[in-house]
Amino acid sequence: MLTSVFIYIEKLKRIPIAIVVLFNFSSIINIILSYYRTITLSVIPSLCHRFTMGRECLPFIFLMLLPVALVWANPPTLNTTSDLINIEFGHRFPRHGLHLLYFIAHHLDVDDNNIIRPNFVPDRGDWGFFSYSDSEGVFPPLLDQNQQGYYSVGNLNLQISYSLPHFVTQSYRLALGSAERNRDRVVVRTSPNREYLEAVYITQRYPLNDPRSNQYDPQNTWRISPALLREIRNLSANRKDSLSVFLYTASYDVSSINFNKYCYYTGPDINIDQVEEASAQQPPTESTAVNKRVSLSNSNNHVECNEIFLEVKATDKGYARIRWSNIPDTLLDKGVQVNVCKDGSCLTSPIDKRSYGTYDIRKYLNKGLSPCLQYVVNKSEIMCGPTYDDTDRKLPVDIKGYDASLQLYTKDGYACARLIIKNTFSDWMNKFGSSWVGFYSDHNKYNYNYDTHQMATYFQYEGMVGQYNMYVYCSNMAIRPEAQARFFLHKEYVSIAMTIPWER
Ligand SMILES: *[C@@H]1O[C@H](CO)[C@@H](O)[C@H](O)[C@H]1NC(C)=O
Ligand SMILES: *[C@@H]1O[C@H](CO)[C@@H](O)[C@H](O)[C@H]1NC(C)=O
Ligand SMILES: *[C@@H]1O[C@H](CO)[C@@H](O)[C@H](O)[C@H]1NC(C)=O
Repeated sequence: MLTSVFIYIEKLKRIPIAIVVLFNFSSIINIILSYYRTITLSVIPSLCHRFTMGRECLPFIFLMLLPVALVWANPPTLNTTSDLINIEFGHRFPRHGLHLLYFIAHHLDVDDNNIIRPNFVPDRGDWGFFSYSDSEGVFPPLLDQNQQGYYSVGNLNLQISYSLPHFVTQSYRLALGSAERNRDRVVVRTSPNREYLEAVYITQRYPLNDPRSNQYDPQNTWRISPALLREIRNLSANRKDSLSVFLYTASYDVSSINFNKYCYYTGPDINIDQVEEASAQQPPTESTAVNKRVSLSNSNNHVECNEIFLEVKATDKGYARIRWSNIPDTLLDKGVQVNVCKDGSCLTSPIDKRSYGTYDIRKYLNKGLSPCLQYVVNKSEIMCGPTYDDTDRKLPVDIKGYDASLQLYTKDGYACARLIIKNTFSDWMNKFGSSWVGFYSDHNKYNYNYDTHQMATYFQYEGMVGQYNMYVYCSNMAIRPEAQARFFLHKEYVSIAMTIPWER
């Protein structure tokens, strides 16, 4: 498209009008937006003075700003959970947006002054956050490109999203092949001092059959107010089934889940359709949860629908242990097995007509192991469990007093540690000159009782994520449940960082 825009630039007073001809409309918008601040701060007052000759300036400023406001994306704000009810975002299986919003909201502290403090670091790639350029202008433009940023989370096709919790990825794993299962995102804007978030948004991609399917849909993009973030956390404080309470309040369509397909029923035989209707109308009770165990109740009956669950865990020797539960008799009778694949190489684990159990496979633990339930006869897949995350779904822990953090992870079944150093901490080699990381096969061991260790300065450079440099070391200790890494500044056995023990 050929477009002309007239820009009046104060510095070019002798050439009052500069004609800019560009072929790409969006780049014009970007130019306008990036100069917006300069224009408002310096040009408008002087223009105003010239054109109005001292008369009231306000209407003039308003007219000047109108075109900018029209092209300037500013998603509407949702203020309460009831504002969530009538939007499309994440409301029907297998969409995952409400689950994702619930999860992120629980990792934000919002104080009375509406300051939003995340307990994760988007720029470090925590939970799979990645930098989003917003070239389509779905969100308001950044005033300071170097210090602010948009970060997006929730693209479940990406490896970096493996660390998201099971309940966020659940519908994605159940609805194999569905075009709807990966559309929702949460986007945050970081602020210049990096500690706070300026804004939290929800958005969604256009449907897969739309040519714009890799773009966010501005019509379905909303800002989430600090009050709503607080409400999501508050709503369900101290309740085990808080996710259900939130989904219920936001009017998630429970009946859109095909319970018959994914559940193992216990209790009396009843008409499932009736139960689904009833559960969609009643507020959840303490015993109701949409997560691992789905309990549905109506006034006469109580039925428990236990979701089929598969996961990869660690043995004591760094191998993969497959754990499954709630496989219904209907599937056991047809004959099913668990197939565990990574990069095209697979191992199967028999189930032997047991509705729950474990099986150790001769495969070292590694990121990306993906367990799926399949029919024995035709290998057709029914659902998948969470993909194995090499960090055990744990964020790095802060090394107290330094712009650095420590993370335990596994590679080929060994316990490895990652030192994450902010690039502003440039003399870390000096400060950490006599520092070391101890590896413990059991977190109950005393500091001096480490299994193996390595000096911090011997860690190998792995790469850079955002403003963080990563350094890694793999020990000869097998990863196992309860394993832990600790950081020591000096020879004395006083640790200043301890990772969360590896899960059983
Ligand atoms: C939320 O509050 C803002 C500011 O008070 C208001 O402009 C906006 O319309 C409200 N949003 C909804 C959905 O009511
Ligand atoms: C959160 O809960 C506390 C106590 O339960 C209540 O005093 C407060 O008003 C609630 N805040 C919001 C935003 O709902
Ligand atoms: C595979 O076999 C199972 C059990 O016999 C059957 O229910 C299912 O429909 C089959 N799937 C395909 C894709 O053939």
